[in-house]
Amino acid sequence: MSPAPDPALFDKVVNLCKRRGFVFPSAEIYGGFRSTYDYGPVGVLLLRNVKDAWWRSMVQLRHDIVGLDAAILSPPAIWEASGHLKNFTDPLVDCRKCRERFRLDKLDDPDECPNCHAKGSFTEARQFNLMFKTYAGPVEGTGAEVYLRPETAQGMFVNFKNVMETSRKRPPFGIAQIGKSFRNEITPGNFVFRTREFEQMEMEYFVPPDEAGKWYEYWRHERLRWYVDLGIPEDQLRLRAHDEEELSHYSSATSDVEFLFPWGWDELEGIANRTDYDLRQHAKASGESLDYFDQALGERYVPYVIEPAAGATRTAMAFLMAAYDEEEVAREGQGQGETRTVLRFHHRIAPYKVAVLPLSKKPELQEPANEVLGLLQQDYMCDYDETQAIGRRYRRQDELGTPFCVTIDFETLEDRAVTVRHRDSMAQDRVAIDGLADYLSPKLS
Ligand code: GAP
Repeated sequence: MSPAPDPALFDKVVNLCKRRGFVFPSAEIYGGFRSTYDYGPVGVLLLRNVKDAWWRSMVQLRHDIVGLDAAILSPPAIWEASGHLKNFTDPLVDCRKCRERFRLDKLDDPDECPNCHAKGSFTEARQFNLMFKTYAGPVEGTGAEVYLRPETAQGMFVNFKNVMETSRKRPPFGIAQIGKSFRNEITPGNFVFRTREFEQMEMEYFVPPDEAGKWYEYWRHERLRWYVDLGIPEDQLRLRAHDEEELSHYSSATSDVEFLFPWGWDELEGIANRTDYDLRQHAKASGESLDYFDQALGERYVPYVIEPAAGATRTAMAFLMAAYDEEEVAREGQGQGETRTVLRFHHRIAPYKVAVLPLSKKPELQEPANEVLGLLQQDYMCDYDETQAIGRRYRRQDELGTPFCVTIDFETLEDRAVTVRHRDSMAQDRVAIDGLADYLSPKLS
C-alpha cells in the first residue's frame, strides 16, 4: 500500500530551501516575479547533480545515445510543422465573479470556482497557446517573430540527419538533451513544480517502426528504475498510462512516472510513443528527407520515436521532498533531546559530498584543515565552515544533506587523524588524513 501524501511537508521543504540557499524567489528585492525562481549556492549544486546523474545514465553509460545542445530561439517554421502553433494550448476559463483565471482541465469541479466558490460563474473555455513569442533583430514585425522553445525535443528532430550522419549511429539509437524550456503557463504554482521557465532532460530514441512497442515498455521501466536507484522510495513512485483524451497531439501512447507529492500523485516525467509524427512533419515542411535506409533489411523507413521526457527542476524538487526527514535525537555532545532535520539524499544527488570543519578558528587548525580541503576538493564538492559550535555546524550540514563531515581538532596536530561523522547514523570514525581519500571513495563512488 502507498503511504498517504503529507501536506505539511510542502511548507517545510519550501522554508528549508530559502533558509539554506537552495531556491530563492526570483527578483525578491522587487517583490518577486511571477512564480519564477533562482537556484542558490546549494540549489545549483543539487540541480547540476540531478542533470549529471541523468546524463550519466542516458549518455555516458550507453553506446547507443549521443548528446545535443540545440538553440532555444527557434523560427516559427519548426513550431508550425511540429503542430505546437495549433495544438500546444490549454483551455482557459475566467470566473466572472472574482476574475480569477483557471485551467479548465485542472479544476476538481468544472462548475465551481475554487477561489470564491461561485457556481456556474465560468466563461466559455478559450484555447490559450502556451508558447512565448519574441522578435529577433531591431524590427518588431511578422518576419522577425521567433519562439522560445516549449520543449527541447524539436531541436533533436530537426537535427536527426546531422546527428545520424556525424555520429554513425543507426536505429535503434537516441539523442539526449538537457536545457531550458519556456511555457506561458496559465496557473504556475506549487513552488518549482510548474513554472514558466524550467529545465528539461529529454531523450528521443529512434527505432524501427515494428519495434516501437518493445522500446516503449523498455523505457517506461528503465526510467522508473532511475528514480529508485537514486534513492526515491519505490512506494512513492508509480507509472500511470494516459487515457485516450489525455494524449498529446503527437502521441499514440504515453505513461507518466508519478511521484507522491505533498498534494498527491503528480507527474515527474512522461514516456511517449511519438510514432513517426515529428520526423514526417519536418520532412514535409522542410523538403528534407528524414528517413533511414536499413541496408541489412534492404528497406527504407521513417523511424518511430520513443521519448522519455523529464523535468530537471521538478525532479530536483521530488528528490528534496523524498529526502526530507525529521527525527528526535540527543544533542550531539550534550545529551539533551532535540529534533534534527536531515535530507537523506543519495550521495550522487547530495549538493556537497563532504564538509570540512576545523573545530575552532585557531590558526594552528587552519593548516591541516586547508590540507584536508585541498585533498578532498580534487574529487568532491566540499563545504568549508569554521564558525559556530560544532553541533550546530553538524545540524546545518544535515539540512544540506551532506553525507560526511570531517572535523579537524587539536588531536589532529598530534596524530594526523580526523573525525569523520556520518550524516544518517551520526556515527563517528577516526581516520588518518593519509587514508581519508581511500576511506571515502567507496562510500561516495
Ligand atoms: N517533449 C515532451 C514534453 O515536453 P511534457 O510532459 O510536456 O512533455 C516533460 O514535459 C516534463 O517536463 C514534465 O514531465 C515535467 O517534469 C517537465 N515540465 C513540463 N512543464 C513544466 C513546467 N511548466 N514547469 C516545470 N516542469 C515542467
